[in-house]
Amino acid sequence: MNNGVGKIAVLSSGGDAPGMNACIRAIVRAASGQDIEVVGFLQGYRGLVQDQHIPLGRREVGNIIQRGGTILGTSRCQEFHTPEGRCKGAENLRQANVDALVVLGGNGSFQGAQALAAECGIRVIGVPCTIDNDLAGTDYTLGFDTAVNIALDAIDRIRDTAESFERLFFVEVMGNTCGAIALEVGVAGGADEVLLPENPTDIEVLCEHVQRGFDHGRRSSIVVVAEGAQYNAQKLDEYFKEHRERLGFDLRVTILGHVQRGGNPSAFDRILASRSGVGAVEAIARGKYGVLVGVVNNQVKMQPLEEVVAHKKILDPNLIELAHVLD
Ligand code: F6P
Repeated sequence: MNNGVGKIAVLSSGGDAPGMNACIRAIVRAASGQDIEVVGFLQGYRGLVQDQHIPLGRREVGNIIQRGGTILGTSRCQEFHTPEGRCKGAENLRQANVDALVVLGGNGSFQGAQALAAECGIRVIGVPCTIDNDLAGTDYTLGFDTAVNIALDAIDRIRDTAESFERLFFVEVMGNTCGAIALEVGVAGGADEVLLPENPTDIEVLCEHVQRGFDHGRRSSIVVVAEGAQYNAQKLDEYFKEHRERLGFDLRVTILGHVQRGGNPSAFDRILASRSGVGAVEAIARGKYGVLVGVVNNQVKMQPLEEVVAHKKILDPNLIELAHVLD
C-alpha cells in the first residue's frame, strides 16, 4: 500500500504562506494512515544541511490547521544553492533513512529540490506554497487566497478614510515579479488602476485618469500597486513629491508588506492545503516522484517539477480586461 516507503521528510522553504501548517498536518495524517513515519526538517533547507529535524506524529500536528506561518520554520538558505550544501542535505536524509522529501515552497525552493533529485538521487515531491500565486502547474498556490483577503480588508478600511478626505491612495501589495495579488485585490476592491510588474506604467496618463475621476465627482481613488511594478510605492512617493504643485489632488501611499503573509489561513487555503498534503502522500504511495502536487480545474494533479519551474504563470487576461472595463 505504501510502495515500500517507511519514512518521509517534510520541510517548508522560502516565503511562509498561510496554509503551510494545514498542509503539514495533512501530510502527517495521510502518511500515518499508510504506516509511513514523518520527520520535519527545521528552517527549510538550512535544517536539511545542518541536520536539524523532529519527529512528526498525529499529536504534533494537532491544533495547527488554523495557524499562519509554519511550525517547521523557513529560510532562504544560501548554502543549499551550492552542490556541496545539497550533498550534505542528501547525506543527512540518507542517515535518517528518509525515502522521500516533500518540499513546501515556491519556484526557488523547487529548483533546489530538483537539483537535489538530479545530483544526489533524492526522491522529491513539491507542494505549491507562496502568497504570490506565480507557479505554473496549479490554479492556486497555498496562501494566495488568504493574502488577497487580508489586502482586501485593508483596502476597504483605507477607502473609508480616502472618502472622508477626498484623497487618492496608492496601496502597495506584495508581488515582486508577479502581479497576481495586485490584480485580484484591485478588481475585488474596486480600484481605479492596478499597476503590475508585467506591464509598464505611464504615470502621466495615470494622473490624468485620477484627476478626471475627481473632476467628475469621485470622492476617493484607490490605485493598487504590486511591489515589483515599474512605479512602486517608493517611486510613486518621489514622483508626487516632485509634482505636488502641478497636481490638483491630495494623496497618501500605504505599503501593506508582510501583514499579508500572517494570520489564520482562509477556509479556501485550509482545504487546498489538506487536499495537496494528502495528494503528496498519494503520489509517494504510487511511486510518483519529481512532481508538483497542484490543483487544476478543481482536480488534484501531478505535474513534472521540471516543467513547472521552466514555465512562468501568465496572469489571467480576462481579469486584466475586467480591471480595465470597471476602472
Ligand atoms: O514570495 C513571497 C513574498 O512574500 C513576495 O511577495 C515578496 O516579494 C517576498 O516574499 C518578500 O520576501 P522576504 O520575506 O524575504 O522579505
